[in-house]
Amino acid sequence: MLGEFPAALQSAPIPMKKFYITTAINYVNDDPHIGHMYESIAADVIARHRRRMGDDVRFLTGTDEHGQKIERAAAKEGVLPIELADRVVRAHHDLLKRLNISNDDFIRTTEARHRIGVLEVIRRIQERTPDDIYLGKHSGWYCQSEETFIAENQVRDGVDQDGHKVEWTTEKNYFFALSRYTERLLTHYRTHPEFVWPPTRLNEVIAFVEQGLRDLSISRTSIKWGIPFPGNPDHVIYVWLEALINYISALGFGSADDENFRNYWPADIHLVGKDIVRFHSVYWPAFLMAAGIELPRRVVGHGFWLRDQMKISKSLGNVVRPYNIIDDFGADALRYYVTREMVFGQDQDYSDQSLLTRYNADLANDLGNTLSRAIKMSDSYFGGRTPPTPCDDNELMRQAQAIVPQYLRQMDELAFQRAIETAWQLLVSINGYIVSREPWKHFKEHGADETLSRMIWNSLESLRIVWVMMAPFLPSSTTEALARLGADPGRIDAKALEWGGLPNGAPVRVTDPIFPRVDVAQYIGETKMQDPTAPPPIETTQAAPPGLAKISIEQFMDVDLRVAEVRAAERVPKSKKLIKMTVSTGDEERTIVGGIGTKYTPEELVGRKVVIVANLQPAKLMGVESNGMVLAASIDGEPSLVSVDPSVPNGTRVR
Ligand code: MSP
Repeated sequence: MLGEFPAALQSAPIPMKKFYITTAINYVNDDPHIGHMYESIAADVIARHRRRMGDDVRFLTGTDEHGQKIERAAAKEGVLPIELADRVVRAHHDLLKRLNISNDDFIRTTEARHRIGVLEVIRRIQERTPDDIYLGKHSGWYCQSEETFIAENQVRDGVDQDGHKVEWTTEKNYFFALSRYTERLLTHYRTHPEFVWPPTRLNEVIAFVEQGLRDLSISRTSIKWGIPFPGNPDHVIYVWLEALINYISALGFGSADDENFRNYWPADIHLVGKDIVRFHSVYWPAFLMAAGIELPRRVVGHGFWLRDQMKISKSLGNVVRPYNIIDDFGADALRYYVTREMVFGQDQDYSDQSLLTRYNADLANDLGNTLSRAIKMSDSYFGGRTPPTPCDDNELMRQAQAIVPQYLRQMDELAFQRAIETAWQLLVSINGYIVSREPWKHFKEHGADETLSRMIWNSLESLRIVWVMMAPFLPSSTTEALARLGADPGRIDAKALEWGGLPNGAPVRVTDPIFPRVDVAQYIGETKMQDPTAPPPIETTQAAPPGLAKISIEQFMDVDLRVAEVRAAERVPKSKKLIKMTVSTGDEERTIVGGIGTKYTPEELVGRKVVIVANLQPAKLMGVESNGMVLAASIDGEPSLVSVDPSVPNGTRVR
């Protein structure tokens, strides 16, 4: 088909698709926490992915600085609202940098460009549909913490359904005629079912609107800290109406320089927490309809991070701010955990312990070790370089080609957890490939021949693709890993997901582990000691069985059990019990001393498959250093080795 087009057209660049993504803007009454971090990270993963797929991405985040909540928090600290806002904004900027967030813009609702946009929206509504904004009297249950009136049927004993205190309040306010938009909104949801995601949230929104909407009070006289209502400065504009407009005021809407608005609006994704989906999918589209502005394409509601299954909140004193994790393990450790652990849209419990357990198992062990292992082999067999011969027909290539489209679909569906699992399928295959081919054996027998070159090149090339898939989640480690692999560290685009990108004869770098392992128990103990505000350890009501205390699955996963083959064995001189064994775990050999000499002879051990604890601290037994332990059952002191099927490859993890 291409041949039918004139040559000039064939080489014309494909126009980029614009992609505008926003996060909610954060209140500045308190420092950022895990919820804010998660939202920035999730939006960043989407933005980085779209950017590398060739879209013209605009990514906005920012702060929501007006309203009673901020006014009160500042008064409590004895500072001006703007002083409090400046301090918290600095904390957000600092955090975005530390988390490696690639936002293109950051809007503060105290900026002039925001005020211009807000006033222009109100002007347009008043001009187009003058009856949509009217002055009226309003009485109702007002919740200060949510800055909104609460329907009567949701109030009980002076608190709303979330447990916030409400007060009976009468105000003369400006109103927005939201009730007129009930049908138009329902029609929009019906014709654009993708408008709210996940679908459960859409159903909630529809059920809410179907009950009929009440007009919305959009000004306050009780508050000073806000944007004065046009034509009536005794009122300030209701903070939610004002805040939602940030998504277009940041693009220059209402100003002479509105090129960004013309280029990027409507937003492709408004990413927000599930608690504020309603504001974004009911009020916001109604305001836009009234002002004659196109509606955003999609409101995506993510779940909540909890602590001990409870909502985190300042008043409960259980707010999670894992700055220590970012400092000690890097942003990628946190980025990985929050995107891998949370099923997008659902709630998830946070703990440093589960983060570090995942870090050890997935990043240090699976991803990091496979990388160093493959690079080390290339380094020693091919003189510090990637092998000279590529390979364009092999099982890893076929698997990569099947996996990448699946991964891309999952990324489009924002199913981060599944996308990462998909990348892991390839990683597991690479490990299996290496273990079953035993390149170290091939090298010993045949030297660095073409077969070995292909074997190592395939491993490195498929690893390169795994890392490119992980790039949006682990941006800085990916750059480092690609450089170590001998690949171009900047190439993470759609083309880089294709087989064949790794150059031959490029220098590889053998150095420290990319994700050094952590001793979880020790780290948790130390950080607790450093943090005097940390809650006391949770007391268990269930008694532990006599003898041994129960351990968590995380603690169990900390034990690295591996299949190994005994290559050589001899008795330790002057000992009846101890046998010194050389065992192979695939790519390396180590010495383990075991007290099994009363039952087994060295000769019958050679060639046998055993299970070892691979991450035990070295210990000296009768002058011989033992690196690990061989598992055996003890029947009245008589050992019986734990065995596995001889076909299980050396190095396979036992769980
Ligand atoms: N200022 C409003 C949003 C206005 S958008 C026009 C606001 N701010 S917030 O600081 O309370 O929350 C900011 C974002 O963080 C929201 O999307 C909220 O849902 C999200 N999170 C706050 N706590 C959270 C968790 N514990 N977990 C995940 N995200 C949560 O709402």
